[in-house]
Amino acid sequence: MNIPFWEDSYKDDSVSAFGIKPNDTLKEFQHLFDKSGSVLDVGCGDGKNSLYLAGLGYTNVEAFDLSENAIKKLHKLAVSENLHINAWQQDLTQFVFNKNYDLVMSFGTLHFVEKKYWKDFILKAKSHTNDNGIHIMQLFTNVLPASPDIAPFAVGLADDEEIKELYSDWEILQFKSYTFEDEHPGVPKHYHASNKIVAQKK
Ligand SMILES: C[S@@+](CC[C@H](N)C(=O)[O-])C[C@H]1O[C@@H](n2cnc3c(N)ncnc32)[C@H](O)[C@@H]1O
Repeated sequence: MNIPFWEDSYKDDSVSAFGIKPNDTLKEFQHLFDKSGSVLDVGCGDGKNSLYLAGLGYTNVEAFDLSENAIKKLHKLAVSENLHINAWQQDLTQFVFNKNYDLVMSFGTLHFVEKKYWKDFILKAKSHTNDNGIHIMQLFTNVLPASPDIAPFAVGLADDEEIKELYSDWEILQFKSYTFEDEHPGVPKHYHASNKIVAQKK
């Protein structure tokens, strides 16, 4: 069975496959989220974005990831930083919303499930978002073929701008289509094509 490269890094406290700095877009729009709001981090990995918000004083941060090792590492990091994050192992295709959120964010994850699943997830997340709530969704597109490190897992690459259609009834605060060079411990440099959307429920 193919194991994605990030699993090793989730088992090793001395490395981080995706860095420890929070995502720039989260920082850019953070002023729009209230610290008491409910946050959901989908495919959180070892949790750099959730840890960032919890560290700023956000008290209601929830995060899940398919990888049990990611969640174990996130729990360890949260304890070491004296932060509280409600994190659990979860497949996003099986997730059942039982509350509303003010911020739902997903960085670099949705393309790892088939398109019908990530679209369905976004629609459910939209209906479980409070008025004025925000979504930040970043996923890879088929503008470039999947790089070898993720090709076996990237079963749901989006068409360029496709994600925008899902938010046509929300206010789109930012949309970007871009390519970037990427590198991870033990993985040679490669390129990804990506869409990122920041949208607000009105
Ligand atoms: C590229 S990492 C991004 C991690 C984190 N969002 C970040 O920005 O550092 C992608 C993550 O998606 C998770 N993932 C893949 N398929 C998933 C699924 N079906 N449900 C939940 N998480 C999933 C992987 O375990 C991995 O941690």
